[in-house]
Amino acid sequence: MFPQIARRLIEEFKPKNTNYIFDPYCGTGTTMLEAKLAKIESAGTDLNPMARLISVAKTTNYNIDKILHYRDSLSDDTFAYSFNKNKGALKLVDFKNIDFWFSRKSIFELTFLLNRIQDTIDEEYQDFFLVALSESFREVSYTRNSEFKLYRMPKHRMEQHKPDTFGIFFSKITRNIEGLKSLNDKDLDTYVHVHNFNTCHINPKEVLNREIDFVLCSPPYGDSKTTVAYGQFSRLSNQWLGVESASQIDNMLMGGNRKNDMIDFHSEYAKKELNEIKEEDAKRFIEVESFLNDYKSSIDNVAKAVRHKGRIAYVVGNRTVKGVQIPLDYITVELFEKNGFDHITTIVREIPNKRMPKANSPTNKKEKHHQQ
Ligand SMILES: C[S@@+](CC[C@H](N)C(=O)[O-])C[C@H]1O[C@@H](n2cnc3c(N)ncnc32)[C@H](O)[C@@H]1O
Repeated sequence: MFPQIARRLIEEFKPKNTNYIFDPYCGTGTTMLEAKLAKIESAGTDLNPMARLISVAKTTNYNIDKILHYRDSLSDDTFAYSFNKNKGALKLVDFKNIDFWFSRKSIFELTFLLNRIQDTIDEEYQDFFLVALSESFREVSYTRNSEFKLYRMPKHRMEQHKPDTFGIFFSKITRNIEGLKSLNDKDLDTYVHVHNFNTCHINPKEVLNREIDFVLCSPPYGDSKTTVAYGQFSRLSNQWLGVESASQIDNMLMGGNRKNDMIDFHSEYAKKELNEIKEEDAKRFIEVESFLNDYKSSIDNVAKAVRHKGRIAYVVGNRTVKGVQIPLDYITVELFEKNGFDHITTIVREIPNKRMPKANSPTNKKEKHHQQ
């Protein structure tokens, strides 16, 4: 989600007396950072450890001088590494297929950086450096970087691939320090809490122990495997950081567990679309229904945790399956209405170069009536 969208939604739609904002699919923490900038306490949850790491780093008040000090000492260490004749003493990180994705040289360099971060930096400052390292894993690896899913580059490109691991890592650090400096100018004492629970199964009230004034989020718009493969995208980084379930993340996310015998999602607003997909492709229909079943459970739980006269803002995408556009905007409205909410408005964003929705989509027809 673009920060500008979160910022505007907070400014224009938060209910009166908002003290607490919640994001049930917080990803890299855009909602929480914008809440913090608006001096409103917030919490978020995400099942992907990489997303949580970035969220925490993005919303922590680091002392910039300390960060610069750690950066300089890491830089000295990497300089010394080049002259170290005893590299064999390093206990290399290892996981399934590591050699498929990384050269031996890269494994040495990345292990060295990871060890230095974990051994020499104060625990509360480590996340800042681990975020830069996590981003470097992918660039250093043999993956085709332009894609979300994990594919290895062809053999001839692998032979030419000689990444400057330390250069890549420090360029990320430099960029993130610039970001941090712009935040450090502000007075940022507001709390942010990052959690790891699944709203499909848990009422947020049980974990947060307080009522929510405003929910602001951009949920997934389909299961990870067939839409945005968040788990695959972050798999190598999660594996490097020792996350045990790294290769299972897409299965854990919404719609990831297909339950053929439990397909019972119904929608008045999207009846026609769901029937069309069912007739077109039974397997795809099950995928869509599994996702929507989870989406419904999550909304039912989130709705219970919002206070009286509280509000929710969902930034959704209407994906197309088998040529049929699924009106997730309408489905979201319907699910919250069933929980006693009133719909205030749907704002349709124009996305340049994006294909137009199909003419027969109800979203498209009703778009004209939406307030913009
Ligand atoms: C569209 S992204 C959110 C992006 C976020 N707004 C940001 O700006 O970074 C959706 C997120 O939902 C998370 N997710 C999917 N299923 C989930 C679930 N059942 N519980 C919690 N998080 C989930 C994914 O890991 C992903 O990070």
